[in-house]
Amino acid sequence: MSQPRTLGDEPVAPAVTVVEVGPRDGFQGERRFIPTARKIELIEALIDTGLPVVEVTAFVSPKAVPQLADAAEVVAGIRNRDRAELLALVPNLEGAERAIAAGVDSIGLVVSASESHNAKNLNRTVDRSLAGFADVVAAARAAGVDVKGGIATSFGCPFEGDVPAARVVHIARRYAELGVTRIGLADTTGMAQPRHVRAVVRAVRAALPAAELGLHLHDTRGIGLANAVIGLEEGVRRLDASVAGLGGCPFAPGATGNVCTEDLIFLLDGLDLATGVDLDRLIGVARRVEELVGRALPGQVMKAGTRAARHPLEAVPTAAG
Ligand code: COA
Ligand code: ZN
Repeated sequence: MSQPRTLGDEPVAPAVTVVEVGPRDGFQGERRFIPTARKIELIEALIDTGLPVVEVTAFVSPKAVPQLADAAEVVAGIRNRDRAELLALVPNLEGAERAIAAGVDSIGLVVSASESHNAKNLNRTVDRSLAGFADVVAAARAAGVDVKGGIATSFGCPFEGDVPAARVVHIARRYAELGVTRIGLADTTGMAQPRHVRAVVRAVRAALPAAELGLHLHDTRGIGLANAVIGLEEGVRRLDASVAGLGGCPFAPGATGNVCTEDLIFLLDGLDLATGVDLDRLIGVARRVEELVGRALPGQVMKAGTRAARHPLEAVPTAAG
């Protein structure tokens, strides 16, 4: 159980902000178009678990990502939206204008630390992406919409390999110059190992001590949660995750799901880091997501249940010799 913890009657503020990204990072890579009404139902169910922030869609080119062509309709349809922050991924001013018009609470900008991934993902150089962000930030400010800065391939690029921490720091500084101090370091294709997480988080923190750092980790090589623990040790208190472990960037070879939200909540609960998320409810939602996409998904806790799960003795054979 991961109910919000209370001391007396006072609710304790979550120690870690878990950002649910399944509706964006997960659905963008699905083969079948998930009907808009199903997306909305899922987002509402995720909000009902207590997740404080949900990345609900992306305002990107519908030619590049047809799965999210219904971004505005999705945002418009969410009825319990006042209970969570609705975040949307945005690559450029056109996306920002669409997102603002649709009524999101915050936008997450994206640029890659490596040129090749930025070229594949956004069809432009890193400098051209960054040059466009000043207008995005101005438009968002004018509309009262919060802006976060995402840095893809922060821990390695599937085309170039190692990405120098200095590149990540350079982009983080450019964000900070625009007044964007919530910065998300993304392991787009699960290349990070603990040493990379430590080194990059430390490098960005040394350059920008006031920045609020988040981690967007993928479990492509099975160590997503281990990397999350390293991030926590380094003081990161904002972690992206996707329900049931959905996910993967269509413009990065071999990319698979994000760290799984239920598994992350289970871990955080075990570290006594409150999240405000109801794990039992979230497990129910994750099981429904498997039905929605029509295949088994990587989440582990949704299969095993929480530690409170009990099995009838007679249902299991005795290993008598
Ligand atoms: N939303 C909707 N349409 C957009 C758009 C946006 N944010 N940005 C551009 N477009 C449209 C333009 O209006 C133009 O339409 P037209 O052909 O009808 O005139 C067309 O896309 C081309 O515009 P251009 O600025 O030349 O974009 P591009 O072809 O160089 O593509 C991106 C650039 C960024 C729009 C595209 O690469 C993209 O959407 N990438 C996102 C990929 C993604 O989501 N990856 C996973 C997340 S990390
Ligand atoms: Zn991702």
